[in-house]
Amino acid sequence: MSLTPVLTDNWDAERSWTLASYEEHGGYTALDKALGMTPDAVIEEVKESGLRGRGGAGFPTGMKWGFIPQDNPRPKYLVVNADESEPGTCKDIPLMMATPHTLVEGVIISSYAIRANKAFIYIRGEVLHVVRRVQRAVQEAYLAGHLGKDIHGSGYDLDVVVHAGAGAYICGEETALLEGLEGRRGQPRLRPPFPAVAGLYASPTVINNVESIASVPSIIGNGHAWFSSMGTEKSKGYGIFSLSGHVTTPGQYEAPLGITLRELIDLAGGIREGHELKFWTPGGSSTPLLTAEHLDVPLDFEGVGAAGSMLGTRALQLFDETTCVVRAVLRWTEFYKHESCGKCTPCREGTWWLVQTLAKLEKGQGSEADLDLLLDQCDNILGRSFCALGDGATSPISSSIQYFRDEYLAHLSHGGCPFDPAASTAFA
Ligand code: NAI
Ligand code: SF4
Repeated sequence: MSLTPVLTDNWDAERSWTLASYEEHGGYTALDKALGMTPDAVIEEVKESGLRGRGGAGFPTGMKWGFIPQDNPRPKYLVVNADESEPGTCKDIPLMMATPHTLVEGVIISSYAIRANKAFIYIRGEVLHVVRRVQRAVQEAYLAGHLGKDIHGSGYDLDVVVHAGAGAYICGEETALLEGLEGRRGQPRLRPPFPAVAGLYASPTVINNVESIASVPSIIGNGHAWFSSMGTEKSKGYGIFSLSGHVTTPGQYEAPLGITLRELIDLAGGIREGHELKFWTPGGSSTPLLTAEHLDVPLDFEGVGAAGSMLGTRALQLFDETTCVVRAVLRWTEFYKHESCGKCTPCREGTWWLVQTLAKLEKGQGSEADLDLLLDQCDNILGRSFCALGDGATSPISSSIQYFRDEYLAHLSHGGCPFDPAASTAFA
């Protein structure tokens, strides 16, 4: 399988982030086409394309838009989730830096489809350079008449607000994001009601990931059949796969869903010379680890699911045989403990206990019974937490014990980590 650059096509163009460059490459023509269609026809086109949410969950985008109750008199909102924070995930930030107008055009078309006159782009607070770049793109779009009143003479009005979050991983969870946007502490809300029914300011709200929204202009411009001709039967289209870790050329690789890690590693020049793949994450650290046995798993929602993991954000973190899996998992678990919002007991207390038990095992202290204790702690968090953060925290632990139990035991028999820390560049 080869690469299919669409979103990444103009990343190398000179001053690719400017309106001039974007328009030179056909930017804002899909908007004209969309404004010539009815909002329902735009929703139908996105439904037919088979686009599924690129933030990780894979929920059908057009179907989500269709949930917006049009008989509800309250205003409708579009909110872009640009709070990319999952460890290893680095696709939305490069996209917003390289071609922010792809996102802005997607926001206008998507808002038109759901009949929203106000949209928000919620960007992770730590990346102020990205906030500035997207703000500048929004300003340029206003000055060119792509935003504001009577867009392109269509009678349609839209205002866009770029909002910088305060830097909490939990604000990537859509309802915690809404709490943050409303000025409150970022903690998840109970769902249902889903945001499509009662979201921002209790109004119908569509929340989509950056890459989902940025895919909309190409779908409208080229038609649903073009998009659905790529990918697999149930996972249509292309996506950005982020390769990081022990690979020769880490970076963003845009390819049809269903490509395998083996093919992506070939495109990225192989695992670093003289080494071999030991384990990897398909979609960030909250998706269960996979191993070299899974190199030929199709990277689509169904294929990765059948292998016992999740496609998630396509954040492919690759680790070779020099990496201590116990140390890697401990690092991730410390992250989840730090980022737990504290709202529910299983996650707030449980992630603290996971770190205690894992740290003990990593130091080679305790006994094999602590491995069972660790799995028991995972059982008490998984399915009992208020949101996906708690569940996600258990994924690297239980999957690493499934595939690398012997390595945990080696820490106990060795009285500490058996790996030479100088040999690995991961988690240095
Ligand atoms: P989810 O499956 O609960 O929901 C997905 C989307 O579909 C949401 O927008 C939700 O509102 C909507 N939805 C689901 N059922 C609905 C219904 N019956 N009616 C109306 N709308 C409905 O997944 P969730 O919890 O929103 O996200 C979890 C995913 O987030 C994970 O798969 C993970 O990969 C990803 N993630 C991404 C991160 C990033 O940095 N991009 C960070 C952490 C997790
Ligand atoms: Fe907060 Fe964790 Fe509970 Fe989610 S699972 S609500 S992050 S404490």
